[in-house]
Amino acid sequence: MAFFVKSPIWLLSIYYVIALSYIPFSGAKKQFLTQASDTVPRRVAIIGAGAGGSTAAWSLRKYADASSIPVNITVFERASYVGGRSTTVNVLDQPVYPVELGASIFVKVNYHLMNASRELGLFVDSADSARPQEADHNIGIWDGKQFVFVLQDNSWWSIPKLLWRYGWAPIRTQNLMKATVNKFLKLYEEPLFPFRSLTAAAAAAGLLDSTSTPGNVFLGENSISSTFSREIIQASTRVNYGQNLGLIHGLESIVCMSTEGAVSVKGGNWQIFHGMLRSARADVRLNHTVTSIQRNADNTLTLTYKANNSNEQKLIFDDVVIAGPLQYSELSITPPVENQPDEIPFVTLHVTLFSSPHKLSPKFFNLQGANAQVPETIITTLPDGLELGSSRKGVGPTGFWSISTLQTVDHPPASPGRTPETHYVYKVFSPERLSAGFVKDILGLESTDATVNMNNSTIGDLDEQDVSWYHEKSWNAYPFLYPRVTFEETLLSPNIWYTGGIESFISTMETSALMGKNVATLLFESWQNQMETTVGDDPVVDWEERTEL
Ligand SMILES: Cc1cc2nc3c(=O)[nH]c(=O)nc-3n(C[C@H](O)[C@H](O)[C@H](O)COP(=O)(O)OP(=O)(O)OC[C@H]3O[C@@H](n4cnc5c(N)ncnc54)[C@H](O)[C@@H]3O)c2cc1C
Ligand SMILES: *[C@@H]1O[C@H](CO)[C@@H](O)[C@H](O)[C@H]1NC(C)=O
Ligand SMILES: *[C@@H]1O[C@H](CO)[C@@H](O)[C@H](O)[C@H]1NC(C)=O
Ligand SMILES: *[C@@H]1O[C@H](CO)[C@@H](O)[C@H](O)[C@H]1NC(C)=O
Ligand SMILES: *[C@@H]1O[C@H](CO)[C@@H](O)[C@H](O)[C@H]1NC(C)=O
Ligand SMILES: *[C@@H]1O[C@H](CO)[C@@H](O)[C@H](O)[C@H]1NC(C)=O
Ligand SMILES: *[C@@H]1O[C@H](CO)[C@@H](O)[C@H](O)[C@H]1NC(C)=O
Repeated sequence: MAFFVKSPIWLLSIYYVIALSYIPFSGAKKQFLTQASDTVPRRVAIIGAGAGGSTAAWSLRKYADASSIPVNITVFERASYVGGRSTTVNVLDQPVYPVELGASIFVKVNYHLMNASRELGLFVDSADSARPQEADHNIGIWDGKQFVFVLQDNSWWSIPKLLWRYGWAPIRTQNLMKATVNKFLKLYEEPLFPFRSLTAAAAAAGLLDSTSTPGNVFLGENSISSTFSREIIQASTRVNYGQNLGLIHGLESIVCMSTEGAVSVKGGNWQIFHGMLRSARADVRLNHTVTSIQRNADNTLTLTYKANNSNEQKLIFDDVVIAGPLQYSELSITPPVENQPDEIPFVTLHVTLFSSPHKLSPKFFNLQGANAQVPETIITTLPDGLELGSSRKGVGPTGFWSISTLQTVDHPPASPGRTPETHYVYKVFSPERLSAGFVKDILGLESTDATVNMNNSTIGDLDEQDVSWYHEKSWNAYPFLYPRVTFEETLLSPNIWYTGGIESFISTMETSALMGKNVATLLFESWQNQMETTVGDDPVVDWEERTEL
């Protein structure tokens, strides 16, 4: 019998999962075995139902099912919906017109999101499929005075015009982008995946050169001209992260240029995370705010939470995953964690969604002529010679980061029997809340009421005939991606895991999903390691006993 037990123990290091399913537990003792028995599941709490937390739950469930280790996953979410910064709202409050208020696109190489969408049976569509396509130019890069460049669609490459203006820079950029993405994808696979230390994994993937250098320096070192960097790449870092090339690190700068195959989930990206949680059979508790985590003498963790601002309640867990920026989670952890993440400044981003019968004003954009058309997407950069860093001031003369025409909608007719009006849906990213005056200006509306100070009123003060619907949101959107060479740990203290450290490396739904899976893999491995040591102790003793015999 002892030999029989010993053999799979020896194999364990290679064939964990297989071995786990038939090791006879009955002879052994110890705490782990009570927990791993079929009746008492491992209790895991995940704080946050965004990309990170949902992917962690989904991955953990897959591992648990494949190994028949029972797990009970509870997801706490303080918001009333699943998705976190993947948030959808309905234009005109009609569910037929969902639009993204937060994260809107992902790309073909975002395998976690692509695969999950496919597995969950969601329909993924080209990100700009709903755009009206009424203007000749879909994208214009605005510097506050003029469009420095306009183009047809969001493929930067192989456009003669682009090569004509920028020479080799677009091709060099594309090559650098591809090489960088390939390095990044090493994090998805063995031997780098799973990684306990993102710092070590990033170093092994050869990415620290790019994270340690500001974007403009990194691009310059790679022989990409400053004109292309400023006009095209900086327009991308501004629309994606509200940051200029002088401060955002090289890795995130070049990742912004990976736009090929941009897609979103029809009906809203949040459905990926909703589908993951359902498939994970997680106990999802919306409107639940976790307020504290307390370690007990037996190393279990007591979570205190409030539902609907009612009284505090408590539950005990074996492991906790914090799946969102720790600094905004308002958690008190006792004793303090061993690896305390640094508090990092986040970009305050104001998103204004609105619908209007009016088109964007050619006059506002200094376009002359009766047939002048404003590009449907306006992204921005700084004028030549101006270098600015930080967010609010960093926006420069344009005053906004981007304006996109998302789609058209049918606005109900003013009176019955009339045909519905076509309204355009716009999304504006800006560092500050938009003033009513600004909205009037971009729509080319004359100020009728001079007594109203349009600089000090907001979009809600405008006439419903001009703005038929609006939604404003101020986000703590993403970190300032300052150059750095170290990243936060995945394990903050025993059994307390953290996904948020990846955000100062690359801040996207995909990277949060990667981190969710990474943490789930590490967590599961930690159970297996405990199992190995626990189960492994006895057979060694057995063996010694046998040899003594
Ligand atoms: C306007 C905007 C546009 C963006 N565009 C894109 C894009 O196009 N593509 C892209 O890939 N990324 C984009 N991003 C970034 C992307 O949204 C994030 O990187 C990603 O969604 C982060 O996911 P997460 O799960 O790590 O965090 P989050 O989505 O923030 O999820 C964390 C969750 O934890 C919850 N929570 C926190 N504390 C507690 C607590 N104490 N108790 C209970 N619950 C708690 C929060 O309510 C939240 O739901 C954008 C972000 C913004 C704001
Ligand atoms: C999982 O854990 C939660 C929280 O402790 C509990 O309410 C729920 O009943 C458990 N589910 C199962 C199936 O054990
Ligand atoms: C969450 O709270 C909101 C606002 O109070 C409420 O409308 C919603 O029904 C709640 N949802 C759940 C699942 O408790
Ligand atoms: C995505 O799916 C492909 C094809 O099934 C697979 O090879 C790849 O490993 C998956 N990647 C991730 C991150 O899930
Ligand atoms: C929160 O309140 C809403 C209504 O106010 C109720 O429908 C919901 O069940 C409550 N949720 C919890 C978790 O208590
Ligand atoms: C509103 O702001 C604009 C631009 O900052 C300025 O030119 C204008 O004088 C302001 N108008 C009022 C009424 O304050
Ligand atoms: C702007 O509006 C706010 C709130 O309505 C008010 O307190 C403030 O005095 C106003 N400022 C100006 C310059 O009109």
